[in-house]
Amino acid sequence: SLSQPQDSGSAPIIRKKLNGYVGFANLPNQVHRKSVRKGFQFTAMVVGESGLGKSTLINTLFNTRLYPPKEPLPPSAERPQTAAIESISADIEENGVRLRLTVVDTPGFGDFVNNDESWKPIVENIESRFDSYLEQENRVNRQKIVDNRVHACLYFIQPTGHSLKPIDVEFMRQLHTKVNLIPVIAKADTLTDEEVAEFKARVLADIAHHNIHIFQAPTYENEDDEALAEAEEIAGKIPFAVVGSDRLVSTPDGRQVRGRAYPWGVVEVDNEDHCDFVKLRQMLVRTYMEELREHTNDTLYENWRTEKLLSMGVIQDSSVFKEINPAIRIQEERVMHEAKLAKMEAEMKMVFQQKVQEKEAKLKQSEEELYARHREMKEALEKQRLDLDDKKRRIESGRPLTPEKQTQKKGRFNIRG
Ligand code: GTP
Repeated sequence: SLSQPQDSGSAPIIRKKLNGYVGFANLPNQVHRKSVRKGFQFTAMVVGESGLGKSTLINTLFNTRLYPPKEPLPPSAERPQTAAIESISADIEENGVRLRLTVVDTPGFGDFVNNDESWKPIVENIESRFDSYLEQENRVNRQKIVDNRVHACLYFIQPTGHSLKPIDVEFMRQLHTKVNLIPVIAKADTLTDEEVAEFKARVLADIAHHNIHIFQAPTYENEDDEALAEAEEIAGKIPFAVVGSDRLVSTPDGRQVRGRAYPWGVVEVDNEDHCDFVKLRQMLVRTYMEELREHTNDTLYENWRTEKLLSMGVIQDSSVFKEINPAIRIQEERVMHEAKLAKMEAEMKMVFQQKVQEKEAKLKQSEEELYARHREMKEALEKQRLDLDDKKRRIESGRPLTPEKQTQKKGRFNIRG
């Protein structure tokens, strides 16, 4: 797609004020403040076979030709392929809120006879971004952490109409534990609406069959109807069927739109009836930006970090290595501290449980005692009542009690002796 210097973080910055509505200025205030304080960086990556329109979609996403102009291309000219992993950033501003949006373009694969391990450089790139974050976390001054981790990975699927290819399965399986995977069906303009619907279902079934985790749009219980409807609508579009274009074309009714012109009509990128591009952009920069960042930090990065530290545990036995690498020592101390805390918590839980059990047993016992006392009192009262009845009858009939009869009655009713 373009030949620019290797991805380095020193990618050109295009400062640009978006004219269209993006929406991150409307993030809930609290989340928003947090993001602004942290610097508000968001990085997306595009991955997929060669020629599926990854670079074009990036341009479409930024609503500009961030890449050096490819036009005018002579009609016969091929669009140059992306040769190395490269990233491109833009500071987008809306209502005074600034967002540093970076998209990482990866070279398409599938061109070679042997495509084994073509996922490797991409996974390495993702991990090196984790590495750099970890290194910053370990610095004494942790104020200015630059977060270049990949928060979302758009995986491009060829619009074959069949199932996923083995290479797609392999790629996704390599990626899904390291990034938020968002599958997209590339060049959706080459399929009919019915074909898109069928293909989506098949892709989802394949993804489930191969136990591939894709990003799940979370919904919250306390959300209002509008937010829930939006979340459901977005979730229902996955895998997004996208069309990319960085050219304006004229529609039959005279509008200038971003789209692709065919003899039978114009496919409009920004028309939700034509493709899911709008929904995809909405998901990335509006609805789920914070969730994507959070899941990257709390789950994907955390798992990677734990695994990395565990694997370093073998080396840690060498005290020499520890001496020369304070970062590892600090990490080790942190892990030990966390383990200690976890142990303390477990112990406290156990003691607490024991106490609760004891208390429950005591309560049960006094309940039983109360019950027995209640029964006794009831019986005694009943006996008293019968005695009185008997007395009454005798007095009424004018006959005094004979001593033996009295004992007899006592023996019959005095249960407790
Ligand atoms: P690599 O750099 O090889 O990985 O390719 P890429 O995935 O970046 O593809 P690129 O954006 O360079 O586009 C390849 C060709 O597909 C170009 O001729 C584009 O004009 C065309 N193309 C891009 N997006 C679409 C689309 O949505 N629909 C159709 N029909 N063609 C597209």
